[in-house]
Amino acid sequence: MSSSETLLWITLALCAATGGSEVLYKKRGQVVMMYCGDVDTRITNYVEWKHNSVLVFKINTKRGGIIKGSAAVAKKAKPIGDSLKIPSVEAGDTGIYICSGVDINGNQIRKEYKLHVVSVSVSPSDTVLISSGVTLRCDVEGDSTAQVQWKKPSGAEHHGSPGNTVTLKSVTLADAGQWTCQIKDNGGKEVEKIEQVITVVGLLQSPAEVTAPLGGAAQLPCFLPDPVSLRIMGGGWAREAPTDHFVTFSRKVSGLHWKDTDILSRVTFNQQELTTNFTVTLENVQLADAGVYVCTVDFDGGRSLKTQLNLMVEEEREAAVGSSFGEKRVLGVALWVWFAVAAVSFILIDLAVIIVIKHRRKKRRTFFVKRTPRQPIHRTEWPPPLPRPEHSAVNIYVFM
Ligand SMILES: *[C@@H]1O[C@H](CO)[C@@H](O)[C@H](O)[C@H]1NC(C)=O
Repeated sequence: MSSSETLLWITLALCAATGGSEVLYKKRGQVVMMYCGDVDTRITNYVEWKHNSVLVFKINTKRGGIIKGSAAVAKKAKPIGDSLKIPSVEAGDTGIYICSGVDINGNQIRKEYKLHVVSVSVSPSDTVLISSGVTLRCDVEGDSTAQVQWKKPSGAEHHGSPGNTVTLKSVTLADAGQWTCQIKDNGGKEVEKIEQVITVVGLLQSPAEVTAPLGGAAQLPCFLPDPVSLRIMGGGWAREAPTDHFVTFSRKVSGLHWKDTDILSRVTFNQQELTTNFTVTLENVQLADAGVYVCTVDFDGGRSLKTQLNLMVEEEREAAVGSSFGEKRVLGVALWVWFAVAAVSFILIDLAVIIVIKHRRKKRRTFFVKRTPRQPIHRTEWPPPLPRPEHSAVNIYVFM
């Protein structure tokens, strides 16, 4: 055996004895359980656990005695048999954990874990106002070669290149939902993932336009679709120019209320106590009221949301476009006049036809009598009178 071969054998034997190092990725707050040796054969005489070379505790499994060490994790770590349990891991618990001892047969045992605590953070908060910025971080503590990647709520699409940070400069409603930080080992296998829900808060955007009849009422909608965890400090409605609020609300000891002092007499709202609905109704709308109206909601921390709409004032319409039958017009004359004219003409034509026919019959009778003056004709032999023409036939005859 060459010296290099001997070295290889020694290394392999050492690895087999120590069992190598097991790498763990755990979310902050998770329970971590680390076993000493194999689960099946962990019948030990005594073991000691060290965190980054500092003693956590030494357990005499035979007699049941425990000696606590000075490692920070010792305060919360619990011995379970010869295992070490951390009920809720923190970033500071990251590091190398080594268990060493003697098993029941007197053999040395050694087990090593490399623990990485993974944590997700969102700034400024996981509830974000629409169009504002947010940064998502996914940190793997310790000296890790794992690949970190954020996945968008839609799931399939990867957000940008791999990296532990995602910065959105101006969030939209599409950014709301569940984001996932995926951690893969060097072999590309997913070892851990952490979900983070982002809530996007926005005022209702539509309708962009409200139409009100002159003298009528206009409802100017402004509300949050859902109650939000952010604290609303105040807000109000303003004409785009001048920018002064014509109605405001603000937080008092008892909650969010409309201010009574500066309310125009024509503005009303149903609730005095405000939660999500800042809709106002403008009564007796005038032509001068038309224009752009802006609703503002101010949140804690100086952040605010705005929504605007365009108020259109409609004057009364002319009767010409009325839809009732009597008001319809053809060539500038009301339809009912055309119908009257048609009815009268029909009666007149019929009368004319009847007069013409009666006149003709008289003439025909006179003709027969004149033609046979010497042969007196018996009344019964007279040819039958012409069949009285049908009404429609007469009409045709007249028009031919
Ligand atoms: C908001 O309040 C108005 C009355 O001021 C009401 O008509 C409207 O339906 C409310 N909107 C919502 C979404 O609750």
